[in-house]
Amino acid sequence: MSDDTINWRAMLAETAQVVADRTSALWLCQRASGYDAEEFISELDNPVTSRAAAHLHDMVRRFLAGEPLQYVLGRWVFRRLDIMVDRRVLIPRPETEMLVDLVIEEVASRSGSTVVDLGTGSGAIGLAILDELPLGHSTVWMTDVSDDALDVASANVAGLGRPGIGARLSRGAWYDALSNELRRSVDVIVANPPYVEDDDPDLETNVREWEPPLALFAGPDGLRDISSIVDGARTWLAPGALLLVEFGSRQGQAVSSLARDAGLVEVDVIRDAAGFDRVLRARAPR
Ligand SMILES: C[S@@+](CC[C@H](N)C(=O)[O-])C[C@H]1O[C@@H](n2cnc3c(N)ncnc32)[C@H](O)[C@@H]1O
Repeated sequence: MSDDTINWRAMLAETAQVVADRTSALWLCQRASGYDAEEFISELDNPVTSRAAAHLHDMVRRFLAGEPLQYVLGRWVFRRLDIMVDRRVLIPRPETEMLVDLVIEEVASRSGSTVVDLGTGSGAIGLAILDELPLGHSTVWMTDVSDDALDVASANVAGLGRPGIGARLSRGAWYDALSNELRRSVDVIVANPPYVEDDDPDLETNVREWEPPLALFAGPDGLRDISSIVDGARTWLAPGALLLVEFGSRQGQAVSSLARDAGLVEVDVIRDAAGFDRVLRARAPR
């Protein structure tokens, strides 16, 4: 790709040809230019600086090598947020956004709440909750066993600005990350844990090759981590409080049984926008 006195309009056309996808090309050019969607339109006839061209060339090279666009861009949209992502964390998925609605529906009418986001990764779920509730409404404990993930989450907390004051980052394996004072006092536990079977033949190659294995795989049946979360929930939830766990589309029956066996009540499976079983909703007994 040449960049002698080229403007962004020509650079965009050239990039679209190279990557064979106009939308990806647009996002890559926007990222390299430093301008967002609408600002970028007014930049189209301006020259591409050599620095921006070098940045774009590097991103195109990574994209053509198969790296997911989200990692190449270094950020991705989750609800209203532009979340920083890289290979240390799972790319936030659209189907996970419904967990945020379910948490907000549960706590918004209260004067305040304590929420736990287990396995926070980039921090997407916890930060969207803080972003969408009134400032200072809730405390959200965001936990992960991975130091790398917590580094990314911490950067995203900083990027959130004032709503981030409600975030509490904590390291540990599932409930080990929580302090004893939280026992039987949490209003909502929300989690999108690893739930892919170790040998799942349907897992996309790109996901297997690029996303952190710790964020994906959960034993031969994919239920190892969901089982730990469901089993421990009653120790931490206040009476009548809510557990929300994302799971794989074929795991609905198994996950519901785990919840009933753990003594949870009002056990329910919620479908995602594509009609697949996706979220366990259950409560601690009152
Ligand atoms: C599927 S990712 C979800 C990330 C983020 N919550 C999201 O929805 O995009 C699962 C997360 O759980 C974390 N994790 C895996 N095993 C864990 C464990 N034993 N205890 C706590 N977190 C764990 C991973 O590091 C990863 O960040």
